[in-house]
Amino acid sequence: MTLNGAVSTEEPSQRAASSERKTVVEVEDLTVSFGQGRGSVRAVDQVSLAVHAGDICAIVGESGCGKSTLAYALLDIVPPPGRVTGGEVRFKDRSYSKMSKQELDDLRGAQISMVFQAAMNAFNPVITVGTQVMHRLQAHREAFASPAEGRAYFEHLLNLVRLPPKRVWPAYESQLSGGMKQRVAIALALLLRPSVVVLDEPTTALDVLNQRLILEILKDLHRNLGLTIIFVTHDLAVVAELASRVAVMYAGRLVESGTVKEIFSAERRHPYVTALIGSIPTVLDSGLHISPIPGQVPNLAQLPPGCRFAPRCPLARPLCTQAEPPLLGDEHHHAVACHVVNEHLQVIEPDEGTAGR
Ligand SMILES: Nc1ncnc2c1ncn2[C@@H]1O[C@H](COP(=O)(O)OP(=O)(O)O)[C@@H](O)[C@H]1O
Ligand code: SF4
Ligand SMILES: [Mg+2]
Repeated sequence: MTLNGAVSTEEPSQRAASSERKTVVEVEDLTVSFGQGRGSVRAVDQVSLAVHAGDICAIVGESGCGKSTLAYALLDIVPPPGRVTGGEVRFKDRSYSKMSKQELDDLRGAQISMVFQAAMNAFNPVITVGTQVMHRLQAHREAFASPAEGRAYFEHLLNLVRLPPKRVWPAYESQLSGGMKQRVAIALALLLRPSVVVLDEPTTALDVLNQRLILEILKDLHRNLGLTIIFVTHDLAVVAELASRVAVMYAGRLVESGTVKEIFSAERRHPYVTALIGSIPTVLDSGLHISPIPGQVPNLAQLPPGCRFAPRCPLARPLCTQAEPPLLGDEHHHAVACHVVNEHLQVIEPDEGTAGR
């Protein structure tokens, strides 16, 4: 499927290669709103995105731009008062809007699961890790032939997240460090053997050493379990290290999506993404250099006219404050929402190759 006409910066062979992999999660024109009437805001505004089997897809953007809300929508668990007010999410071609509550409950955990932001602070302090696992296994008896098999699989997961099962199984949360708890949270999310896991800011609350360890572990899990990983972050250095694909959000909208290579090396890149890359701290002989993006993310209840990034954009021109730029391209490959960037792109017709999923 293409968005508003097909535009691509990829070579035909690259397009074919990524089209061959199945789309597992697909978001189409999704809008998630908070509040009613005049006071309502669209935390996610007409976002379209396709995640292929085996991708490590990063959802990136500054605080408040809708990353967590989009992540919740990927499991149909947007917390009230938020609600989906447009578009849909599909898992392996099945729309959540057409699934029963039971089907959705069966899907969550067993096919797609989530590690919530600050999951390490959400453990029940009065029961051990082992007891939590056994409770979960009792609630999902269909997942394993016996509780012992389930326990053995969890211990295998603990090994994969580089934790000693003998030490962790009988432990209470107060006996584990923050980094250990985050790794237990990841193992718990994988207990029912989902093929897709969504992680919200998995490294944010950790020190540098633990951040690095989590990135290594996620790479191992991707390789060893064949997982598709979708993770939310505001840190482009983490994206460069871990992700194969990136979706960049700004004030509720998707402004660019593509492979990491496309986005980091592209000549045609959204000015916000260029500014984000420029804001990564660099260490030079003269010291630490940080170039923050001037201005502020707009209040979602008082968006500027036209392009939401216009008040901060060095390339803004009159058209930018008159019309919101459409996301042009192909959500399976490279798409950008910018009048100036898209003026320079070659528009091509949709073809059979881009529809192969
Ligand atoms: N519980 C809530 N009540 C009202 N508005 C909310 C709530 N949660 C999120 N929002 C709105 O959605 C926007 C996006 O939030 P969120 O998805 O948490 O952003 P991010 O994860 O990118 O920091 C917020 O800026 C806010 O306007
Ligand atoms: S549409 Fe205009 S204001 Fe928006 S990012 Fe592109 S150049 Fe900047
Ligand atoms: Mg968030």
